[in-house]
Amino acid sequence: MYKILTIVGARPQFIKAAAISHVIRGKYADSICEDILHTGQHYDDTMSGRFFCELDIPLPKYNLGVGSSSHGAQTAAMLKGIEEVLLSTHYDGVLVYGDTNSTLAGALAAAKLHVPVYHVEAGLRSFNRDMPEEINRVVTDHVSSLLFAPTQTAMQNLRNEGFKEDNVVLSGDVMLDNALHYSSLPTTHYPLPTDFILATIHRDFNTDHPERIKNILSALNRIAEQYNTKILFPIHPRTRKQLETFNIHLSPLTFHLVEPLSYLETLGALQQAHLVLTDSGGLQKEAYFCGKPCVILRPETEWVEIVDAGAAQLADADPSRILDAANHLWGFKPSPPTDFGDGHSAEKIIEKILL
Ligand code: UD1
Repeated sequence: MYKILTIVGARPQFIKAAAISHVIRGKYADSICEDILHTGQHYDDTMSGRFFCELDIPLPKYNLGVGSSSHGAQTAAMLKGIEEVLLSTHYDGVLVYGDTNSTLAGALAAAKLHVPVYHVEAGLRSFNRDMPEEINRVVTDHVSSLLFAPTQTAMQNLRNEGFKEDNVVLSGDVMLDNALHYSSLPTTHYPLPTDFILATIHRDFNTDHPERIKNILSALNRIAEQYNTKILFPIHPRTRKQLETFNIHLSPLTFHLVEPLSYLETLGALQQAHLVLTDSGGLQKEAYFCGKPCVILRPETEWVEIVDAGAAQLADADPSRILDAANHLWGFKPSPPTDFGDGHSAEKIIEKILL
């Protein structure tokens, strides 16, 4: 029996891990078993606990409870805790997801102990080293034994960095597996406004700069006014804190402010939203998978396929670009995605690991 340790810590990783965990406990239950380690990077119930229940993932065997701190302190605490687990229990491999500090810590701790690292969502590049996530991605890829690239662009990025074809697999995107699976189930009922745009902001380069956050919010206000609609605004704890720090108030006449949505609530909201505006990588894709257009509140994106398909536009934090993009995309219905696999990425990943 192959024994794998899945390392998660931040909200998007619980969602990605669900796809693979279901496959491990289903079709491959006789050949592979999984323990889950939660670093504790996210800890509020709305950011963590509720996903395990909603997505039916086993509760973590280990929870390091590292909480929030500076990048160095947080990553160091994770490294120490993960190393202790890997030294006390034998695992044949470690699975890490995406590009958070938990991904980096999991990959580094395992690689140094010569435990094979499997990176799901490998090869993504924004080519912007100001993003902590870009550093996490690059380092994680370079210490991984098997790299699972979700798209051809990710494959090409890895080829350009000299990776051997043997170590790199075009797996497709486990988030598409999830979107296809969960959209076919009844959506979670959630009190939504009758007519709305869905917006989220959580990236440090937006939340930590008052000018950028104010610019984005003023553009959102203008769009809501122009289309006589509301902004459904699930708020990340970091964003809530920064709005308080900068003394920014959101008018309830325009902003329908709610706690971070669960995964099923997000899918439900996407089905009804006119448009999505976000700086989240995950929500960009979820919008695309649900056939909704998206304004990307960043200067660049790793998910270039969505922009190339005409389903999203980059607008950074520039109010006139945000408005132009919203006007351009309003009413547009993106075609189903073709560049993110066939909805069976999780199976491909486990088959390759077991080869
Ligand atoms: C992290 C990831 C980011 C991912 C995002 C998803 C890194 C470097 N960034 O960003 O790639 O898109 O998760 O949400 O790993 N906080 C709480 N409660 C929580 C979690 C966070 O209050 O449960 C607050 C704390 O003030 C914390 C801040 O949010 O300092 C930021 O949290 P952190 O995990 O450092 O980064 P995210 O912005 O969530």
